[in-house]
Amino acid sequence: MNAKTSYATLTLSDVEELVPVLHSEEVFAFIGGMPTRNDFTLGLRRAIDGPGAKSVGEHWINYAVRLNETGELIGRVEATVHDNLAEVAFLFNPAVWGCGYATEGLYWLHGHLRDHYSISTVWATTHPKNARSGALLRKVGYVQTETQRLPMLYTYDEGDLVFQRSLV
Ligand SMILES: CC(C)(COP(=O)(O)OP(=O)(O)OC[C@H]1O[C@@H](n2cnc3c(N)ncnc32)[C@H](O)[C@@H]1OP(=O)(O)O)[C@@H](O)C(=O)NCCC(=O)NCCS
Repeated sequence: MNAKTSYATLTLSDVEELVPVLHSEEVFAFIGGMPTRNDFTLGLRRAIDGPGAKSVGEHWINYAVRLNETGELIGRVEATVHDNLAEVAFLFNPAVWGCGYATEGLYWLHGHLRDHYSISTVWATTHPKNARSGALLRKVGYVQTETQRLPMLYTYDEGDLVFQRSLV
């Protein structure tokens, strides 16, 4: 199947362009609530800055997702690599939800992690009411995991559903 989307490292020049794409109640409904515009852009700038030299072995991977046909910025995918695993996340413009772009984005991210990092498992956490996110994860092969004995996950909040998938 031909790819409909392309991926480039998120840069400061993408930040303002992402405001109308992702700064909305719908996008943030299950991921901490709507931030102010200032906090939204600050969060992106921090993500782009990365973890800093002290966090040895930790990598913050942030990619902008664009439509091949038009170049339109439609969302972003991210992964945090630490402790021999990666935690993934994905945010797309509600105007394009249900078109399969997040599915494509997650498969692309898996390939990128496989090619560049020696990790064997990817993890994702999601609010139990975030049905779209849960359905997406199951569709691309993630399996819901018991939360009693989790590795240390930066994105886990009490009550979250936790998913994992092998990369090998
Ligand atoms: C989660 C999110 C990325 C999914 O994006 P999307 O564009 O809908 O994803 P896709 O089109 O690839 O659909 C993936 C699957 O979701 C499921 N889905 C689609 N619409 C759905 C709906 N209304 N309700 C429940 N599941 C739905 C389907 O299983 C679909 O696969 P299918 O169309 O082949 O059946 C998007 O809703 C989003 O950006 N949400 C806000 C940010 C967020 O909460 N991110 C998750 C945590 S970081």
